[in-house]
Amino acid sequence: MLDLLITNCTLPDGRKNMSVAVQAGKISEVTEGPIAGAQAKETVDAKSYLLSPHFVDPHFHMDATLSYGLPRVNESGTLLEGIALWGELKPLLKAEDMIERALTYCDWAVARGLLAIRSHVDTSDASMLPVEAMLEVKKRVAGYIDLQLVAFPQDGVLRTKGGMDSLKKALDMGVDVVGGIPHFERTMAQGAESVKLLCEMAAERGKLVDMHCDETDDPLSRHIESLAFETQRLGLQGRVNGSHCTSMHSMDNYYVSKLIPLIAESGVSVIANPLINITLQGRHDTYPKRRGMTRVPELMAAGVNVAFGHDCVMDPWYGMGSADMLEVAHMGLHVAQMTSQKGIKACYDAVTVNAAKVMHLEGYGIEAGCDASFVLLQARDVVEAIRLRGNRLKVFKSGAVIAQTPEVGASINISGRPDTVRFSTFS
Ligand code: FE2
Repeated sequence: MLDLLITNCTLPDGRKNMSVAVQAGKISEVTEGPIAGAQAKETVDAKSYLLSPHFVDPHFHMDATLSYGLPRVNESGTLLEGIALWGELKPLLKAEDMIERALTYCDWAVARGLLAIRSHVDTSDASMLPVEAMLEVKKRVAGYIDLQLVAFPQDGVLRTKGGMDSLKKALDMGVDVVGGIPHFERTMAQGAESVKLLCEMAAERGKLVDMHCDETDDPLSRHIESLAFETQRLGLQGRVNGSHCTSMHSMDNYYVSKLIPLIAESGVSVIANPLINITLQGRHDTYPKRRGMTRVPELMAAGVNVAFGHDCVMDPWYGMGSADMLEVAHMGLHVAQMTSQKGIKACYDAVTVNAAKVMHLEGYGIEAGCDASFVLLQARDVVEAIRLRGNRLKVFKSGAVIAQTPEVGASINISGRPDTVRFSTFS
């Protein structure tokens, strides 16, 4: 007797009329058509809807989320005012409020089928308050969200007095990944030095690396080059990620023709944050205004693993968002102009499989042996899922339903039209 049987579902790769069997929290079988003789404690008829591995956000700031308006709103909308505003807020923060906001966000995430999040946590403050708070959140949500934390020296690991010690302390306390922000150090040379020191620390401690890298419109911000070099020098291939890399948008094409193969060769992955990049970058431009997002299709074409992150939701940098990775993919395909069927599917991968690869998630996917943590969407395929930001009808964690949203239908009554048209097929 199976624990769970999903019948008649469509998978992200387009296979239809599939059955997925679950036993003891794991997928035991994936077959086309019915599974002969299968009996299950619970059977779900997917009605041809899409069964997808859960969404993954590989780049977020959970210590700042839902703090919008505290103590004031970012008037200029720039990254730098956001950082200054976060600096004003930090002395006012209380751990219990930060935990409460993060837990609320995690509820939103579960409702949207987002069950793995990599969050940067600010280590600049010697008090370690954000680190302690996020470690507590990680513990509390462990049953339903895989929360991976990055030690993130928001004010610069070398620029801040004691920055390196605080970052080491965060790792000692249990933070998972080494972060950095080379473009915010005092000079290009200091930025490169921070990349070297942090990668060496990660190599020594056997940690993954995820640096905010070149989050600027300055085409001469080239820390991604150092990150790729250090990755190769230290044998960290497949363990390092460059986040944002927005300066690549403005770089000279000749230099980029050298840079992208270097990134591919080093096995460094790249995370773009479409909602935030299109919002924060290009703020010093008149017209034309740059989009600011990194070169997603070109990186993908070169074989670089590219994922999309949400980055911010209702915080000093961004006042929108709702933990919906389909909204992120939707913006990503617009900004990158990835509007072909292949491009749209690649954007779906960027918030699922590619992001899972960045986080080194184990047991991810819809195959026998994987965790039975997936989402039934009110959409017929991944393209429709992005187009409609389809309802998460059922969110499963290890075979158990942890969130549900009713199927939505629209009743209309127009002469010559059917009386009832299901919203997802009404186009
Ligand atoms: Fe970020």
